[in-house]
Amino acid sequence: MSPAITLVDEAKTIRENAHAPYSGFKVGAAIRTASGRVFTGVNVENAAYPEGTCAEAGAIAAMVAAGEAQIIEVAVIGDAPDPVTPCGGCRQKIAEFAPPGVPVTMANLKGDAVTMKIEELLPRAFAKAQMETGT
Ligand code: THU
Repeated sequence: MSPAITLVDEAKTIRENAHAPYSGFKVGAAIRTASGRVFTGVNVENAAYPEGTCAEAGAIAAMVAAGEAQIIEVAVIGDAPDPVTPCGGCRQKIAEFAPPGVPVTMANLKGDAVTMKIEELLPRAFAKAQMETGT
C-alpha cells in the first residue's frame, strides 16, 4: 500500500505551477477544511511587482469561492535552506479562517518541516472581536 498523501505533498505538487519569473522562488500552499476538502494555491507574481500574490492567498481565495471558511490544517512549501514560513500578511489571512490550535506546517524541498499553531505564528492577531465596541 502506498503511504497516505499529506498536506505537504499536496502543497509540493501544486508548487510546480507557481508563476514566479521575478523572484524565481516558487511557493505552494495547501489548506484542509472541516469538510475534509483540500484547497491549493501558488504564488502568482506580476511585472508590476506589488500586484503579485502569495500561495496562501490563492489557496484561501479558492476555499472561500467554494463556500468554505473553516480551516483545520495548513501547509506551505518552497525550495529554501529552511522551512518556508508564511509572510506576515499571510499569517493574518490564515488567522481570519483558522481558530487557535490550527497547525501550520512549513516545509522545504529537502524534507525539513516544522509545525506551529497559528497563534504561535501570529500572537494577539487582530480580529473582528476587537472592532465590536469601537466607534
Ligand atoms: N511568498 C509566498 O507565496 N508565500 C509566503 O508566505 C512567502 C512569500 C512568495 C511571494 C513572492 O512571489 C515570493 O514568495 C518571494 O517573496
